[in-house]
Amino acid sequence: MAAVDRVIAAKLSTGVPLVGQVCEYIISAGGKRLRPALLLLVSGALGHVHENRYTLAAVVEFIHTATLLHDDVVDESTLRRGRDTANELFGNAASVLVGDFLYSRAFQMMVEVGHMRVMEVLAEATNVIAEGEVQQLVNMRDAGLTEASYLHVIRSKTAKLFEASARLAAIASGQTPAIEAACANYGQALGTAFQVIDDVLDYEGSSGSLGKNLGDDLREGKVTLPMIHALQQANEEQRLLLKAAIEEPLKANLDDVLAVIRQTGAIESSRSAAWQEAQRAIDALTPLPDNHFKTGLIELAASLQGRQA
Ligand code: IPE
Ligand code: IPE
Ligand code: MG
Ligand code: MG
Ligand code: MG
Repeated sequence: MAAVDRVIAAKLSTGVPLVGQVCEYIISAGGKRLRPALLLLVSGALGHVHENRYTLAAVVEFIHTATLLHDDVVDESTLRRGRDTANELFGNAASVLVGDFLYSRAFQMMVEVGHMRVMEVLAEATNVIAEGEVQQLVNMRDAGLTEASYLHVIRSKTAKLFEASARLAAIASGQTPAIEAACANYGQALGTAFQVIDDVLDYEGSSGSLGKNLGDDLREGKVTLPMIHALQQANEEQRLLLKAAIEEPLKANLDDVLAVIRQTGAIESSRSAAWQEAQRAIDALTPLPDNHFKTGLIELAASLQGRQA
């Protein structure tokens, strides 16, 4: 991971000081570096030691960081990684444009790697992420959103980059299609579980450990799994309260909505859905050789149950 951070620092060079300032601001705030960790763990599990893995790990973190810069503008969020968001500090225009810089820098780096399948996977992943975010925008304030539509959005906006990270490690080490598919399935399931937990934490996490404000999803009328499960279990009075909150989020009271979400058992059932996905991730690893990297991948999936940050 230290080697990845060295690549990240080296690849941030720019002649435009504001680009450097915004990048430095968001990247030095940390973040869990989950996607590069995933890529390196899969590389390790497959016994791959090619130098390219650090570049590819930096590429997926750049793409992730670009999506965060754009996401906080779109979600009008004010807190990220325990700090003011870049849009709060530098404005929406700077955040969007520096996000574009990071996206395109990531593409320059993947061209340097010079592997057509790598470019194919990353081009597809970024395209699907964008589609997922747009689909989510269309789904706003829809109290009738189905679990299937929700799942489709999170598989696109979040799980796709996890999937690509794991798949790239397999491609770069020249694995068989079966092993590549197993890695991709692991990444997809892990990413899905990760986003479901993120959506639970948006209701009942702690802003201190999460480094983000709670209630962002409800405030913008975004319907996530805890809300979908609550709507399924609610009595008529509770259902009307939830529906009104989704359709007119600015008038909604987070505490009232949270009370219904808790009363209907939607937190537990959403956590259990995430756990099933995490289990699916672990099962996907069966064809991989047993070693301490694979153990790390299993532990990573298992650790989502206790995720607070
Ligand atoms: C945040 O991702 C966006 C989601 C997919 C929920 P992370 O929680 O991985 O963000 P950082 O990089 O650790 O800040
Ligand atoms: C993840 O969704 C968005 C991306 C994949 C960029 P959220 O909008 O829930 O992410 P956070 O909670 O702001 O990190
Ligand atoms: Mg957001
Ligand atoms: Mg968002
Ligand atoms: Mg969130």
